[in-house]
Amino acid sequence: MGLIITLVAVIGYSGYSIRQISGLRELQNNLVDRNRKDSLQLLRIQNDLNSLALAMRDMIDNDEPYPLTAWSAQFQRVRTDLDDALRREQQVAPVNRTPEQESYLQNSVTQFWDAVDRTFALARVPNQAQARTQIRISLRARQEALSTAVSRLLVQNNESEEQAALRIGQIYDRVQRQVYLFVTATLIAILLTSLTLIRSNRRLFAQLSALSEQRSELAQKLIATQESTLRHISRELHDEFGQILTAVGAMLTRAGKRAPEGSELRAELREICEITQSALDKVRSLSQALHPVMLEETGLESTLDWYLPVVERQAGIDVFYEKSGEPFPVNGNAAIHVYRVVQEALNNVTRHSGAREAWVRLRFLPQALEIEVEDHGKGFEAQAATPGIGLVAMRERAELLGGILEFVPAARGESHGEEVIANADGTGRGTLVRLRVPREKLEA
Ligand SMILES: Nc1ncnc2c1ncn2[C@@H]1O[C@H](COP(=O)(O)OP(=O)(O)OP(=O)(O)O)[C@@H](O)[C@H]1O
Ligand SMILES: [Mg+2]
Repeated sequence: MGLIITLVAVIGYSGYSIRQISGLRELQNNLVDRNRKDSLQLLRIQNDLNSLALAMRDMIDNDEPYPLTAWSAQFQRVRTDLDDALRREQQVAPVNRTPEQESYLQNSVTQFWDAVDRTFALARVPNQAQARTQIRISLRARQEALSTAVSRLLVQNNESEEQAALRIGQIYDRVQRQVYLFVTATLIAILLTSLTLIRSNRRLFAQLSALSEQRSELAQKLIATQESTLRHISRELHDEFGQILTAVGAMLTRAGKRAPEGSELRAELREICEITQSALDKVRSLSQALHPVMLEETGLESTLDWYLPVVERQAGIDVFYEKSGEPFPVNGNAAIHVYRVVQEALNNVTRHSGAREAWVRLRFLPQALEIEVEDHGKGFEAQAATPGIGLVAMRERAELLGGILEFVPAARGESHGEEVIANADGTGRGTLVRLRVPREKLEA
């Protein structure tokens, strides 16, 4: 809506400005320029009339040695010029000139030249004295009347020019007022639009962050549920089934001892006893795999010491394990998350990287615990990462720990002086997963 209002205001104002400007141009062309040209022609006419007046004065004074007809050539020249000026004046006459004014000027000029012709006819007869009288009583009066009419037209032109200037000034004032109005209205529209936009964006962001919080909460709850379920099953397996199998084993051993030496029953009982022992071992290792009780009992460090060789054996990859720093205790709750991150990272190495080697580095830093899992396989960017649950869960666990989880392309033979061969597209440098957790979060 805001955008539409702003656009409409801009279009409306542009139309208005164009109309005002063309109005101004019209005023300028039709009135001011025309008036000026007309005034120039009127001044020319006045000039001609003045030179006629001077000539007539000399003719009346009669102190020249030559006859009146000698002025005829001068009169003819002025007549030609005057006719030309009148013709041009008519072409540029202002629009507000009345037809009466036009015809009055025309008629007066015609009558004047008629009178002049008559006077020169008298002078040629020759009747100089009568011609002079004609000039004095008729010609001069006509010339003066003409001159007055021209002056009046000049004054009229001047007045209408002043009026045009006034109107132009008014147009400028109006346009200026409209500019202020338009700018204010547009600014208000833009301001309102921006405010609305900001508000709706803020609402959207709030919704987004609420959703993301809910999602994170859900994921963390899922992780907690998963951990408690696994811990429960692991405990049940270890304690209940372990107890039962241990008891069965003990009873079988006792029964075997009671059976006669060398009898078939004794041999069978021993065999069942061995099967029970192997079932007990399997149950124990399954229990460890589901949730290493070691984590709570002997800590993260020794759990990893036990776990990494298991991975090597089960997944068939070489794991190079490096430990550094002064070890500090990590509580069971935190340790399970660190352990799961390593577990998932190594799972991904075996499943996705294509590499047969992995490096695990555990660093006890003064202020934090850092653990890295690196491979030199095809790397993350080398293929379109399909969304799985593993990475999400890793991130959530890092968040639960208050730590930072990073996925970076593995550097070239960073700590083991090896050259990593990149893929043909130059991307295959492998993957480095790094988890760093502040020490105080692990000890709490
Ligand atoms: N070390 C790695 N090397 C190459 N690609 C990897 C690596 N780790 C993860 N990926 C890519 O990231 C994707 C997402 O991994 P993620 O662990 O989230 O899912 P997943 O392993 O496919 O399934 P899940 O872990 O849920 O069983 C993988 O499908 C894989 O393409
Ligand atoms: Mg995975």
